[in-house]
Amino acid sequence: MQQPNEKIQQITQLKSGVERLTLTDFRNYKNLRLEVPISPIVISGANGTGKTNILEALSFLTPGRGLRSARLADIKRIHSVSDTNLLSADTWSVAADVLKNDEPHTIGTALSKINRENIDDTKEDELRVYERRIVKIDGQKITQQSELGKYISAIWITPQMDRLFLGGPQPRRSFLDRLVYAFDLEHAKRTANFEHLYRQWYQLLKSGCNDHHWLQTIESDMAALGVAIAAARRELVARLNTFITQEPDDVFPSVRLELAGTIEKMLNNAPAIKVEDFYASNLQKQRRNIVYNDSADGVNRTDFKVYMQQKNMPAELCSTGEQKALLVSIILAQTKCQILDKGFAPVLLLDEVTTHLDDNKRDALLSKIKDLQLQAWITSTDATQFAVLHNFAQFLETTQFA
Ligand SMILES: Nc1ncnc2c1ncn2[C@@H]1O[C@H](COP(=O)(O)OP(=O)(O)OP(=O)(O)O)[C@@H](O)[C@H]1O
Ligand SMILES: [Mg+2]
Repeated sequence: MQQPNEKIQQITQLKSGVERLTLTDFRNYKNLRLEVPISPIVISGANGTGKTNILEALSFLTPGRGLRSARLADIKRIHSVSDTNLLSADTWSVAADVLKNDEPHTIGTALSKINRENIDDTKEDELRVYERRIVKIDGQKITQQSELGKYISAIWITPQMDRLFLGGPQPRRSFLDRLVYAFDLEHAKRTANFEHLYRQWYQLLKSGCNDHHWLQTIESDMAALGVAIAAARRELVARLNTFITQEPDDVFPSVRLELAGTIEKMLNNAPAIKVEDFYASNLQKQRRNIVYNDSADGVNRTDFKVYMQQKNMPAELCSTGEQKALLVSIILAQTKCQILDKGFAPVLLLDEVTTHLDDNKRDALLSKIKDLQLQAWITSTDATQFAVLHNFAQFLETTQFA
């Protein structure tokens, strides 16, 4: 049987990634056009010169709100027109020529305002609500952003993730759900629908609604979605744990992933339909808690626990550099599993990824990226750290973009 690494090598012979990127009125860029190879790309430059903004623009080639989870309106380029006056562009756009296994496609995305005449209420404040992101693939407007996942996939590490294992579970849950989306394009829709229902339910209870039938309908819809969300998360965790056990990395620590959530745990021992019934009746029992400002137990509270296998140490008790190495381990495993499962390579967006890694781990990570033969956009304030990629990566300086 073919080994996973051989299979990965075979798949990445065909190139996937971005060949040309055009930004218009995107953050600090009025107009930027880059032509790049499918290889590592190191972007270096001083603080505030637009390195992360390029990675953010690339992340908008995938579904969602990008790697900063920004408000769409905040991305429009702001520029000063006088000492005291700032002006904001009307819209922003990102366009890219991409390859998916050597096959060329175009992707365009932009902030769009719905015409005034299409809106009942034409107050300016209301109008702003109708700004949304539109997406075109090969010139055709698409209505489901999840379609993008068939053409390009991106996995990112950002400096904010340096604190992923510390603090509350929400960022870890979002991180986990993003890993799931890559394999299960429906997962984004499910989590968005669940959140929408949860808000609706919460507001009804807060406003004193006692329409039992209405609440019960929402609870049973939440339970069905919740169980599907929990099942998809369990599948992802099992997939990564199996891969990491079978293909341990020689430098980065082996991680063990666990889900700490009532619904995910129940699925260990009970069929989905039973768990769904339990979930719905449990939500009903928790109606009173909501009134007293508590959140309801369920998939909205799940935590994603990470352990360093060798020491059996929870990630939150590991050192800063160890935590970064654990994050890299998860991302490397996810990257490889994605290549094997989807049959094409994701683009890696690595913002200041070398921070906290010792020289040995930094060079090992860069060598691994090189060996994977995929496109990785790597930012740094210090280009001298990337000697390992000499003659292999494209080196860009933000001063070239001015
Ligand atoms: N909507 C916007 N319009 C114009 N400029 C913006 C907008 N949003 C952010 N900026 C600016 O873009 C500049 C570049 O930001 P970016 O985060 O890309 O810098 P960076 O090179 O990654 O810096 P660092 O090394 O500190 O991470 C910043 O000065 C920031 O204030
Ligand atoms: Mg930055």
